[in-house]
Amino acid sequence: MSACRAVSLLALYSCTGLAAALDGRVDDLLKQMTLEEKIGQLSQVGGKAFIPNMPKPEEEIRKGRAGSILWLSDPVEINRLQKIAVEQSRLKIPLIFALDVIHGFKTIFPMPLALASSWDPALIEQVQAVAAREARAAGIAWTFAPMVDIARDPRWGRMIEGAGEDPFLGAAVARAQVRGFQGPNFGAPDRVLACAKHFAGYGAADGGRDYDSAYVSESQLRNVYFPPFRAALDAGVATFMSAYMDLNDVPASANSFLLQDVLRREWKFDGFVVSDANAVGDLVTHGFAADRADAARRAFTAGVEMDMASGTYMNELPALVKAGKVSEASIDAAVREILQAKFRLGLFERPYADEALAKRVAAAPEHRQLARVAAQRSAVLLRNEGDLLPLAKTARSLAVIGPFADSKRDLLTMWSGFDVDPSSTVTIVGGIRNKLGRGARIEYAPGVQIARRNPSFFEDLMPSMKRIEPWPQAQADEEFTKALDTARRADVVVMALGELASMDGEAASQSSLELPGRQNELLRAVVAMGKPVVLVLVSGRPVNIEWAASHVPAILEAWHPGTEGGNAVADLLFGDANPGGKLPITWPRNAGQVPIYYAHNLTHQPESAPGFKSRYWDQPSSPLYPFGYGLSYTKFTVANLKVSRDDVTADVENTGARAGDEVVQLYLHQRSGSASRPVRELKGFERVSLAPGEKKTILFKLGPEKLKYWSAERREWIQDAAEFDVWVGSDSTASLHGTFNTKE
Ligand code: NOJ
Repeated sequence: MSACRAVSLLALYSCTGLAAALDGRVDDLLKQMTLEEKIGQLSQVGGKAFIPNMPKPEEEIRKGRAGSILWLSDPVEINRLQKIAVEQSRLKIPLIFALDVIHGFKTIFPMPLALASSWDPALIEQVQAVAAREARAAGIAWTFAPMVDIARDPRWGRMIEGAGEDPFLGAAVARAQVRGFQGPNFGAPDRVLACAKHFAGYGAADGGRDYDSAYVSESQLRNVYFPPFRAALDAGVATFMSAYMDLNDVPASANSFLLQDVLRREWKFDGFVVSDANAVGDLVTHGFAADRADAARRAFTAGVEMDMASGTYMNELPALVKAGKVSEASIDAAVREILQAKFRLGLFERPYADEALAKRVAAAPEHRQLARVAAQRSAVLLRNEGDLLPLAKTARSLAVIGPFADSKRDLLTMWSGFDVDPSSTVTIVGGIRNKLGRGARIEYAPGVQIARRNPSFFEDLMPSMKRIEPWPQAQADEEFTKALDTARRADVVVMALGELASMDGEAASQSSLELPGRQNELLRAVVAMGKPVVLVLVSGRPVNIEWAASHVPAILEAWHPGTEGGNAVADLLFGDANPGGKLPITWPRNAGQVPIYYAHNLTHQPESAPGFKSRYWDQPSSPLYPFGYGLSYTKFTVANLKVSRDDVTADVENTGARAGDEVVQLYLHQRSGSASRPVRELKGFERVSLAPGEKKTILFKLGPEKLKYWSAERREWIQDAAEFDVWVGSDSTASLHGTFNTKE
């Protein structure tokens, strides 16, 4: 108790013994609420009308028909609406303002898949703590993040929002994000509620087509898709979001296996679940619910406590309760979760955004500095023949070519916010100019223009992502030629190619992985000039660079690197930072290979068998770059492996001439058991910084948590007595090998 007394009133609610005080306040309020007001708390209303026929928020708030507002980011508007709740609604219950603060609020950090490429959970925690600070100052108390969906198919545009293909890395990144957003106490004035989404299986959409059904076996769910959600829960995540799509023929937003059996009963989740936007109403469109009343009843009884933006709960639940089809006790239980969160957030004491603070916080130079470091640490060096990189700062003439060389908006993603202002983003050519100053001639030409073939509704919703008017043919030819002339005049060419912000994210699936437009043609024409060429990729997914991988000497995947992206790319190109990022996804040669992931099972006919080269007759079945891969400007060796059933150690040494980072990775394989096990599974990693010549011993703890799995045969979590292979090294093809067994 004495420790409890030392902290703030809000934090007191988290202390044992004072939880009762919180319950008391919730009960007092509940007793005064009408049924409509209770259901109001379960209803999230759009502050902006993105969905047809959405009610105006002011009236809903005044009548107590809204518990939360989403899609606003302006603190002035947030305060205006909060004032209505706090001064004009009968019970004066404050609203929770919620937003997709996915990889930054005002300062935009690298996209989440890029952050995962840093393999640096401490960095990711810091990044999301800054995002929380900026958002909370503006009045946003709840972010719809982290997105922790495993994604093994890069055609799916939402791959950018997660941590990639692997459950172990995904779990580490999920934990770090929850810690970053919520801190030790989400009631602190610079923290927000986090939301683990989209529960579950969204990343397994058929054909990578966003929103399509997912068919995922229970063993895949439990061994692969659930672990990052479970990790978020273990880190204390306050809320979950149900997914849109069918999971094994039952929409995730009315799926009681997911929301009741697993989340509540097995995992004992005690926060609340919000649906995805309009997902409750859409159960009718989905061909699952007969009408909106049926949709409300089935989503609510399955375990969705809050209806995001469909108005279905507000309009249908009161009658369902009166008809005895939904119990008022279950409504009370849901309202209780939401009120508790509001109390613990301190909204009753401090409902308003501090507008001046919001401005100050957003402009904090240390936030931009962190964004720059995060972008440096997220980039992955895919190729560096003849040590072309780093480039000398004494370079006299440089051409920076391509549609992303001077683009601001595309260094961000569609999930950088509905109202994001890209104007302060440092472009790649801008970053290079900042680095080299006036001493060098730096010329820029876009060369080609790219655009989505099929429009996205997000291009209408997000003013900064407006549709592109295609250049007339004559201009297109002229720009292409101009880019070649620009390259011809330079000693070194940096090509910035990739994908627009609108080409990945939600509703941005892609049927091929080719670089869009005439980018490949431009690349080949420039390479044909015989000059040193560096390819910088600005993309949200692996793209087809099979030709580039054997013809372009240096390739750096910068992803969508955020506000400070251009400076970070320049730091990397000119050696002020040394790349240390590693791929959190397997990089396919082309779309024909997907889904592709390293942790596949063995078969009766391994590819190493005599006479076998590939499963495909027309190409290798190996990817272009393996999971966990990434180069550095220095060299590392990993050696001296020591293995026991409890722990593994290995030495990593920087044998090159520059300081740099290596991500040492541990993989396990169980040789036999009650079910087939993957050929390798990541079970440990550590990013270490080493000076030239420096050596460190890395210790990986093993133990039951890392050895158990959910057995499809036995239908439970088990640890077999078995022999295990161990590999430690620099990527998922590591060859340093040992064994242990758990039989004796
Ligand atoms: C739909 C998206 O699927 C989800 O991730 C997001 O949080 C909501 N819209 C709210 O914007």
